[in-house]
Amino acid sequence: MGSIELRSDNTAGAAPEILAALAAANTGTDSAYGADAWTQRLRDRVRAVFEHPQAEVFPVLTGTAANAIATAALCPPWGAALCHRSAHLNTNECGAMSLYSGGAQIRGLEGAGYRLTPAALDEAFAATSWGDPHHSQPSVLSLTLPTDGGTLYSAAELTALTQKARERRLRVHLDGARLANALAASGSTPAELTWRAGVEVLSLGATKNGALCADAIVSFDPAVSEQLVYRLKRAGHVASKQRFLSAQLEAYLTDGLWLRLAGRANEAMARLAQGLGRLGVSLEHPPEVNMAFARLAPAVIERLQRADLRFYVLGLELIRLVTSFQTTAADVDEALARFTKSLGL
Ligand SMILES: Cc1ncc(COP(=O)(O)O)c(C=O)c1O
Repeated sequence: MGSIELRSDNTAGAAPEILAALAAANTGTDSAYGADAWTQRLRDRVRAVFEHPQAEVFPVLTGTAANAIATAALCPPWGAALCHRSAHLNTNECGAMSLYSGGAQIRGLEGAGYRLTPAALDEAFAATSWGDPHHSQPSVLSLTLPTDGGTLYSAAELTALTQKARERRLRVHLDGARLANALAASGSTPAELTWRAGVEVLSLGATKNGALCADAIVSFDPAVSEQLVYRLKRAGHVASKQRFLSAQLEAYLTDGLWLRLAGRANEAMARLAQGLGRLGVSLEHPPEVNMAFARLAPAVIERLQRADLRFYVLGLELIRLVTSFQTTAADVDEALARFTKSLGL
């Protein structure tokens, strides 16, 4: 066996079902800019899956576009988005939300296990000079599920956070780049982890979990949906041949494909974590979805790299391991064999 891929679910290919949907969309012609049959069916599918008759879906090419444009639609230029310090919005999007909002701030808050708590929000609110034009005004709470560390919020925890946000009239965004992994792991419904828990606008990921190149903004607020039509166009995120994005997302949400794919990724990680536990490898926290962080001596990390195990090195003694829908039990067992050897066991 050659290299074993555990860097990121972004390194995986596309699911055959998604490629088949693309091939099916590649027949004949249809209207451009989202006025096509695939986009209409996608809207119906989203409304059914999320149990929300007014939900609107806007396909985009990247999770960054979804996050930045969704949060900008919820935030005035003098506002601030509050999120966890580790949130992709804060750490990996080059201030895109600030660009699209006309200058709003992104403020990363602390929280154990990559999670925010109502107490962290209280602390941020207490430190805010409300109504003072010298300071950005917290206007959006952006949560991430699963978090950037692969941990989860329950529906009750989400609700407690969004209620706290509401007390200060913050709008609520959820970065669901891997929402399917959270759904597959928790057994909660899409509605329970989004609008029923107080989420107003969702970044719905698909690319990391089997799509070729399609994520989406899902808005549960008609007033925000109205704005997004124009914001997306001005941002250059209305694809002329949108049916090819919609076809991917429609297939993704049909017959539970998204949950099956995410379930596979989660199961592969569970198998890996169990094996690592047997080998005595220390994980930062028990993986809840498809991501784990392992503490290892630098020499072991080097030996694993030489053994062609692929992962991200986050620090001198910390690596990140991510499984995808493509990771098989055989891949995991081979990875564990290379760990065994590299640990000198
Ligand atoms: C939690 C989370 N949100 C958003 C994104 C952004 O996605 P993209 O790389 O497609 O812009 C990522 C990408 O890794 C992510 O992990």
